[in-house]
Amino acid sequence: MSQQNQSSQAKNKRKILVTCALPYANGSIHLGHLLEHIQTDIWVRFQRMRNNETYFVCADDAHGTPIMLKAQELGVTPEEMIAGVREEHMADFADFHISFDNYHSTHSDENKAFAEEIYNRLHAKGHIKTRTIEQLYDPEKGMFLPDRFIKGTCPKCKSEDQNGDSCDDCGATYSPTEVLNPRSAISGATPVLKDSEHYFFDLPAFEQMLKDWTRSGALQEEMANKLAEWFDSGLRQWDISRDAPYFGFEIPNAPGKFFYVWLDAPIGYMGSFKNLCDKENINFDDFWKLDSEAELYHFIGKDIIYFHSLFWPAMLEGAGYRKPTAVYAHGFVTVNGAKMSKSKGTFIKGRTYLEHLNPEYLRYYYAAKLTSKIDDLDLNLEDFAQRVNSDLVGKVVNIASRCASFISKRFDGMLSSNIDDQVLANEVMNAGDSIAAHYEARDFAKGMREIMALADKVNEYIAVKEPWQLIKDESKQQEVQDICSLGINMFRTLMIYLKPVLPVLADSTAAFLNDELIWEGHKTLLVDHKINKFKALLQRVDMDKVNAMTEASKDNLLSKDDAKKPAKKEKKAKQVKVVDNTAALNDPLGCDPISEEIQFDDFAKIDLRIVKIINAEHVEKADKLLRLTLALDSKEEGGETRQVFAGIKSAYQPEDLIGKHTVMVANLAPRKMRFGMSEGMVLAAGPGGKDLWILNPDDGAQPGMRVK
Ligand code: MSP
Ligand code: ZN
Repeated sequence: MSQQNQSSQAKNKRKILVTCALPYANGSIHLGHLLEHIQTDIWVRFQRMRNNETYFVCADDAHGTPIMLKAQELGVTPEEMIAGVREEHMADFADFHISFDNYHSTHSDENKAFAEEIYNRLHAKGHIKTRTIEQLYDPEKGMFLPDRFIKGTCPKCKSEDQNGDSCDDCGATYSPTEVLNPRSAISGATPVLKDSEHYFFDLPAFEQMLKDWTRSGALQEEMANKLAEWFDSGLRQWDISRDAPYFGFEIPNAPGKFFYVWLDAPIGYMGSFKNLCDKENINFDDFWKLDSEAELYHFIGKDIIYFHSLFWPAMLEGAGYRKPTAVYAHGFVTVNGAKMSKSKGTFIKGRTYLEHLNPEYLRYYYAAKLTSKIDDLDLNLEDFAQRVNSDLVGKVVNIASRCASFISKRFDGMLSSNIDDQVLANEVMNAGDSIAAHYEARDFAKGMREIMALADKVNEYIAVKEPWQLIKDESKQQEVQDICSLGINMFRTLMIYLKPVLPVLADSTAAFLNDELIWEGHKTLLVDHKINKFKALLQRVDMDKVNAMTEASKDNLLSKDDAKKPAKKEKKAKQVKVVDNTAALNDPLGCDPISEEIQFDDFAKIDLRIVKIINAEHVEKADKLLRLTLALDSKEEGGETRQVFAGIKSAYQPEDLIGKHTVMVANLAPRKMRFGMSEGMVLAAGPGGKDLWILNPDDGAQPGMRVK
């Protein structure tokens, strides 16, 4: 297509290369990824419709520790795993009508060649520094541990089982070497400190260039502000090497050292494009050479701005390549107002969606809500169904279904040569420039609003004219043909405007109308033109199917291939941790009891009782535990009692507890501990140490009462 494309380009047509961020090759495509791909695809399809020479490339991001470990877990080679995932990703994207010109992999010959070339050029210019650093090393697994694979106690608040770089409880960030009682999340072994030589990219050397670039209009305002903050806090050298074992490219002249995944990931944009150029005879340099006049755009999510607005332009500059014309960041998808959640069934894979719903519904809904800003976008499933039904089915397609049958039954499929309402026709036809401007500016929401306002006007026109009444009157036949022909024409114009968003609906419209729906067509009307028989073009969204989709997403919960890259933990609001004393003793790594949401049914299983602490005492040789004797009823004698070990010694003197009421989990399976059986659990809250409180129900609560 490209050669044809190139030769048919008029001189003033733009040359545009567009990319989406490269999805990691160890998880499925979900509705969050799809926001980005749909946004980009709409923009690309719009550029193509305007006859700009446009290429759209992407690839799987195939390197790094999580991918290496995931393959090990699955018992396959990383190469096998990434090949399978790439197939899956490509099929998902194709079914959402994402029109890539190429979908490659960062684990490719092209990418290796560019990564080495760029590195060698940076090295030759003195932009690569080496330094020995001390890092945590897993002696059992025989590898250095990335931060996210270290767990331990927060050095600030002493909360246990925190991440290697930040604490979910107090929000502190720290270096993994500061973590107390660190553990490898891979093997459970205690990591040791080990020296290793690392390679750094000298980012600070590019500060002035980056400041200028930031102000050149390449970035959205919010992004430029973010960058200003980063400049204020000072740029730092970037560690671009990782030690073996690592799945990636070995650094030239540095045996055992590999490029960090984020070094060769953006270079993957070049690798994928080069692969396309070789297949289709496109001139690579036209797009990437220093003084290139082609435009280069990266569409990304807000979480990866740093890589695309600092490291990437600096690498390109240092290696003698052009910089991006612009980097466009979008916000994150939330579903029903909250972060996508597996337990709620709102962590929806693209494939699960496709099994229940038409991809164009989602394309339209995203388009209707996307702006050029970095705000998050909420996919409210009720609103989704309502919006698609009211706009696409109720407004746009409705125009065609109201007019088409008269034309085919009464007028042999012929559109009239008269234009019944030139004013209306002009208004719809003249909106093209404004709608194009909204597409160009990525303000799709505005574009969709404008299109739907026009659809409202056309529907009003038909409602007022009532062709279904006129048809009964023999003398009004011409009028009916004129009205319905204008209706069909307006439908056609609106579908031209919607074509970047709804390519399949546009194709079936084109077949129905015997017309190609090219962009310039919005300036003309079909007169004396034969159309085909109308078939239903779009079904309404069925809320039952939406619900079936969320149900099916809940089923995914336990499936093994759900294991994504270890999720970046949400920043939680400071919260009180429920301390499960017995669990902490038996399971050294512990688990965060509130990280996973439970269903009501799960909750209802817990038998919470008010109890009276009738005895409390120290446990010999246990530095955290008290032995509690709890009465489950008010009987003075012979009532039911339980022995529970509680890790609350740091906060309570035993004698202060005796006689108090508290709350226990009465149906927890008994656990044998070193000091005896623990027959339940008392609930305590607080960060730990002295700041730990057992629940203490008010007067009036009696032992044995169930907590409801
Ligand atoms: N591999 C890197 C990108 C390398 S680009 C040189 C990566 N991969 S990712 O699979 O985690 O994310 C791919 C893209 O999807 C990113 O732009 C990311 O922001 C986007 N999204 C992932 N989850 C998302 C939402 N919930 N909502 C919107 N976009 C989301 O990062
Ligand atoms: Zn902390």
